[in-house]
Amino acid sequence: MCGIVCYVGQKQARPILLEGLKQLEYRGYDSAGLAIQQEDGIACYRAVGKIVELERKLNGVDINGNVGIAHTRWATHGEPSEANAHPHWDQDENVFVIHNGIIENFIVLKKKLEKHGITFRSETDTEVLAHLIGLNFNGSLNEAVRKTMSQVEGTFGLAVIHRNAPGEIVVARRGSPLIIGVGEDGHFAASDVSAMVRHTNKVVHLEENELATLTTEGFSISTAQAKPIERSTETVEWRAEDAELNGFPHFMLKEIYEQPETIKNAFRGRLEPGEGVPKLGGIMPVWDSLKECRHVVIVACGTSYYAGAVGRYVFERLTEIDVEVELASEFRYRKLNFPENTFIVALSQSGETADTLAAIREAKRKGARLLGMVNVVGSSISRETEAGVYNHAGPEIGVASTKIFTSQLTILTLLALLLGRHHNLSLTEGVEAIRAIQALPELMKDVLSQAHHIEAIAEKYHKCNNWLFLGRKYNYPIAMEGALKLKEISYIHAEGYPAGEMKHGPIALINPEMPTVAIIPKDDMYEKMFSNIQEIKSRKGPVIAVATKGDDDLREIVDDVIEIPKTLDFLNPILAVVPCQLLSYYCASLLNRDIDKPRNLAKSVTVE
Ligand code: M6R
Repeated sequence: MCGIVCYVGQKQARPILLEGLKQLEYRGYDSAGLAIQQEDGIACYRAVGKIVELERKLNGVDINGNVGIAHTRWATHGEPSEANAHPHWDQDENVFVIHNGIIENFIVLKKKLEKHGITFRSETDTEVLAHLIGLNFNGSLNEAVRKTMSQVEGTFGLAVIHRNAPGEIVVARRGSPLIIGVGEDGHFAASDVSAMVRHTNKVVHLEENELATLTTEGFSISTAQAKPIERSTETVEWRAEDAELNGFPHFMLKEIYEQPETIKNAFRGRLEPGEGVPKLGGIMPVWDSLKECRHVVIVACGTSYYAGAVGRYVFERLTEIDVEVELASEFRYRKLNFPENTFIVALSQSGETADTLAAIREAKRKGARLLGMVNVVGSSISRETEAGVYNHAGPEIGVASTKIFTSQLTILTLLALLLGRHHNLSLTEGVEAIRAIQALPELMKDVLSQAHHIEAIAEKYHKCNNWLFLGRKYNYPIAMEGALKLKEISYIHAEGYPAGEMKHGPIALINPEMPTVAIIPKDDMYEKMFSNIQEIKSRKGPVIAVATKGDDDLREIVDDVIEIPKTLDFLNPILAVVPCQLLSYYCASLLNRDIDKPRNLAKSVTVE
């Protein structure tokens, strides 16, 4: 949730750190700070609010140094305040620490440290790390961090500098990602490659319970038991310009418009049209077991969960497999009892969501096999699953997930189709499905071309305080996702509901002030959805229909229509979600919300 960026090298650290923080701001953004080694000690500055506030504070301040650590925070312990912002330091102001994660035994440790006369300046769990490292320092910063790792429980990605260890940064990881960047004139460390991708695309991932010392000349990795580790660099494919707005007012809008391309990236090189079969190289290591598997559990959170919920219907349509879809945060508390050869499919943009990680670890303990569908290459979920499929969608910066959702739906469909073709699905059906998948990017452009029309609809309804989203079958999860998008970026209350449940309660809410977004493409649920819409209209509720092009009957009874082109039933959700994304975007924009960084949220939720 929080972000870390560090630099040691021949250049001035300050501009590199500030620029890196801006790239990380999407992860958390209630306060920020940095600490830089100078000849006469360590300069540390912190500010509440966005990175621009820290920049303001540094205006006119002379900092000269090329070793530094920086952090952007999303509060877990203690309110967003300067005192709680990172870096934190020890009693003697020698050690400066930044930290992502949660130190679970911090209260016990804090009490012990207070008994030894240490005064705490913040309410954070991180401050115990600073004091412990300070007390454990005996000439070697690496040793001090190693000893501290054995004293703390919980999760951390951390970075430390010490007044008496000039030219050195020590970083460590347990449960929170840390990546080392190898540059031409120095070394970087960050919680996310986007913070250093402008300077280098050569990275080394730190594994669980490892620590590393970085200097200008090199880096050395070792385990918490001091065993040296040799690890070669990997090259990341993300480009610096992927993290630019390129003329769009917000990343969310840019990412909505990227979808024709990101869908194409999800199937590029993965289709054999003549055979009606997708090919997914990433799952080949487990293919022999996977093709025999008859039970799949999809686990995920938030928008990724809704992608999984659509995926269940698609699997049921195309394969012979029993599919469950579970919220990762609940899954691990269930009594897990899997049939033999059960595969868990973990869906995650970031690959770092704590609940999803915890869910796959628990499932593995209970004997399940693990597949990952992840966007961030080298992320924890991609490393802890046996095999998987990457989205290859480039960085998603807007906190509200958009392009990854449609990319996830595309990949889930490819997997279902691949398995279905090994079960009962005919060549004709396979070829038809592949043709329809290939057509999606152009159809998506057609939906996007209605942006102005959707903006006008948002203009009409953005002051309504309560919204309902309805759908059935494949599009029930789209109703849920539409409501989530509206809530998170516009702060308007919205509920997503399976349309059939309407008359069991929510219909009591319908009134002329409460718009309903009805997802009603021409599919096998059409007639039933049509009746539900009539029920709303007879109670004077305004209805915005997301409907198949040319549906004149529907146009006569609803207030507004957003058209999507005709495609196969199980592909409708990929198109139907786009009007919901745009509707939320324009409502939020009309309400002057902070669209890319909505209040209280963080892009990557690394706490349970
Ligand atoms: O990185 P993940 O896909 O695992 O993230 C899951 C959710 O935290 C995420 O989808 C969240 O719900 C978004 N804010 C939705 O827009």
